[in-house]
Amino acid sequence: MTVIETPRLLLRELTDADHEALFQMYQDRRMNRFIGGPPPPREAYWQKVRETWPAYYARHGFGLWATVRKEDRRLLGRCGLLSQQVDGERHVEVGYALAPEFWGRSYATEAARASRDHAFRTLDVPHVISLILPDNAGSIRVAEKNGMTLWKTAEFRGHLPRVYRITRAEWEKAVEGTGREASTSRMRRIRGEPWNKGSRHPRMG
Ligand SMILES: CC(C)(COP(=O)(O)OP(=O)(O)OC[C@H]1O[C@@H](n2cnc3c(N)ncnc32)[C@H](O)[C@@H]1OP(=O)(O)O)[C@@H](O)C(=O)NCCC(=O)NCCS
Repeated sequence: MTVIETPRLLLRELTDADHEALFQMYQDRRMNRFIGGPPPPREAYWQKVRETWPAYYARHGFGLWATVRKEDRRLLGRCGLLSQQVDGERHVEVGYALAPEFWGRSYATEAARASRDHAFRTLDVPHVISLILPDNAGSIRVAEKNGMTLWKTAEFRGHLPRVYRITRAEWEKAVEGTGREASTSRMRRIRGEPWNKGSRHPRMG
């Protein structure tokens, strides 16, 4: 099921058909360096993703999505939204990771912006964030191109990532005049929802 369509990309829920390709992509140090390191062995990886993603989508209504190039249906990587606990509060994160062969063509920026827009349009969130390790210059640049600025540094699962953020007011200002203003009436409330508790995803976005 396609969740988001952009000029060049489709973002859809991950299925079993994606996991082997992603597993192979995650072997590449360039790909895994800033998002939790290499994946576990194949069997454990498969068990984990099969247990994680259907339940995650059902619980949150979002997740990391297969990021597919429309032109040839190639899987480029995965981008999307994660529910993350940072400094004791629940936040929605925009996450992105593409196989290196697809870097440098603004696909990550296109997917990140679309994911950000989707979050503001469908969730009652005051801001969205991206958690980025300080050395990850490419990811910081994508966050900046996504309208985010450095908010703070946080302790997160034994790391000290920078927290980049764009507020709803900043987003509305950025989209002003494009006819894409958010309607808050149908947004899903996230504060106080069950998904605020105990949700974990093994990787940084
Ligand atoms: C982060 C990532 C998605 C960026 O992909 P990409 O294809 O380079 O992204 P885009 O083409 O959309 O844009 C990248 C921007 O960052 C810049 N950039 C990329 N790598 C850079 C680097 N090492 N140092 C400085 N700038 C860099 C590009 O020049 C471009 O900016 P510009 O348009 O102003 O020139 C990709 O590197 C990746 O998948 N990394 C592995 C997973 C990961 O670390 N994900 C982020 C976790 S927080």
